Amino acid sequence: MTAATKRLSQFWHPIARVEDVTEQPQQFVLLDEKLVAFRTDAGISVFKDLCIHRGTALSLGTVKNGCIVCPYHGWEFDSTGACVKIPAQPGKPIPAAARAISYHVAERYGLVWVALEDPIQEIPHVPENLDQDATFTTDVFSVLEWNTSAGRSTENSMDVSHFPFVHPELLGDPDAPEQDPYDLHAEDWGQWFRVPNQFWRSVDGTQNSRITYVYTHVYPFTMHLYVTVDGDTSGNVMSVMVIASPTEAKKTKVFRIAFRNYVETNANFVSDYLFILEQDRVVVESIRPEEIPASLKQELHIKVPDLSSIAFRRWLEDVDMQGLAEV
Ligand code: FES
Ligand SMILES: [Fe+2]
Repeated sequence: MTAATKRLSQFWHPIARVEDVTEQPQQFVLLDEKLVAFRTDAGISVFKDLCIHRGTALSLGTVKNGCIVCPYHGWEFDSTGACVKIPAQPGKPIPAAARAISYHVAERYGLVWVALEDPIQEIPHVPENLDQDATFTTDVFSVLEWNTSAGRSTENSMDVSHFPFVHPELLGDPDAPEQDPYDLHAEDWGQWFRVPNQFWRSVDGTQNSRITYVYTHVYPFTMHLYVTVDGDTSGNVMSVMVIASPTEAKKTKVFRIAFRNYVETNANFVSDYLFILEQDRVVVESIRPEEIPASLKQELHIKVPDLSSIAFRRWLEDVDMQGLAEV
């Protein structure tokens, strides 16, 4: 195989909900890198969780006057990562190399996004610009950690042919497991496809419809499920954005955001969703190897249902999954 031209560290990934990053420094993990995130008046800063002096975890420190203070010898780093105070030798020049290693950070859709290297792609967009539409609400309704790779998790989010087996009577009809062909639309940022006439029933069995999904996959690990009820003329739309953040090679933090232009009448929406995800988790965490094989030649692919997954795997063949380049 030829060497990959992209690294996962060159893409934006979410590490937390916005409200989970406070003035109290906390450790997060992305692509096996330990990070410290904290908030000052300048916004959110994300650094490598390591003091340049003796390697102490800055996440054990505190924020004072807009700076993070290392817990070991009290060096202070401003929101950009520059060391502005070395208490043991006041008045002496501070070496230029005395800097925390800082990363790109942005707040979007209620999440904190981080790029460990200069990003080569924007933060994943929301189809139809629903995030900018004042008639739509944005609700981060679930954050789950799964013992699998972000790739396997994302494939599960776009895999329709598992519904009758993993979610019988909820998302799929066990008596009708055939998958109709769909047209895959390739874009430079990812792919999308439309799957109409899908089975849907609430967990308590009181609601029952046929629905249409438009799946939009923004590479590498964001899936949008744009959902409308077949035959419904109300104009109600819900789009669920699913972002699998690769915390470790075999661990994934999955954020889910619902964009809706109506008031959800199913009081059990979140608990139903979590019930379904628990059915998925058991199966997906059993998959070996946990990471998607590096070559499309491994594992078996069925043309109709695995079409989008095949395109994803082709794209992944050009990506170094280990993340950060050696420095
Ligand atoms: S290890 Fe951080 S100040 Fe010494
Ligand atoms: Fe599922």
